[in-house]
Amino acid sequence: MASEARQHAYVPYSGFAVGFALHLGDSDGIHQFMPGVNVENISYGATICAERSALVAAISRFGSRSFDYGVLVTDADPPALPCALCLQVISELCGPAFRLVICDLTGPRNIYRLEELLPHRFETFPGAPTTS
Ligand code: THU
Repeated sequence: MASEARQHAYVPYSGFAVGFALHLGDSDGIHQFMPGVNVENISYGATICAERSALVAAISRFGSRSFDYGVLVTDADPPALPCALCLQVISELCGPAFRLVICDLTGPRNIYRLEELLPHRFETFPGAPTTS
């Protein structure tokens, strides 16, 4: 699904297509995935990465729930890892045990736990509301 989704990436500025498939754990044993792609914009900072686009779509469709792993596909060599902004968002929405399957076009190359890639996240400030 991540590879297929990657074909839909909107990347007129970088030309670098990213595909992501977020696994939605299901208590009934049904495994569903939500695809995400990067969607760029002429106002470069408005670009949304593939990982965050899948998370936004999954929460829009199913609400916030326990996501357990995601599959990231690029044609980079070595295969690209999530950017720090996405790691921060994944950390808050998916937790430290979330696994990232990092792929190139031939298949999986590495698996990381989120906490390996982002051992110290920004998680609070004085007066912050509790999020979990
Ligand atoms: N990109 C992602 O989709 N995910 C990441 O984790 C890193 C970067 C996208 C954003 C932009 O469209 C392109 O890759 C080049 O930075």
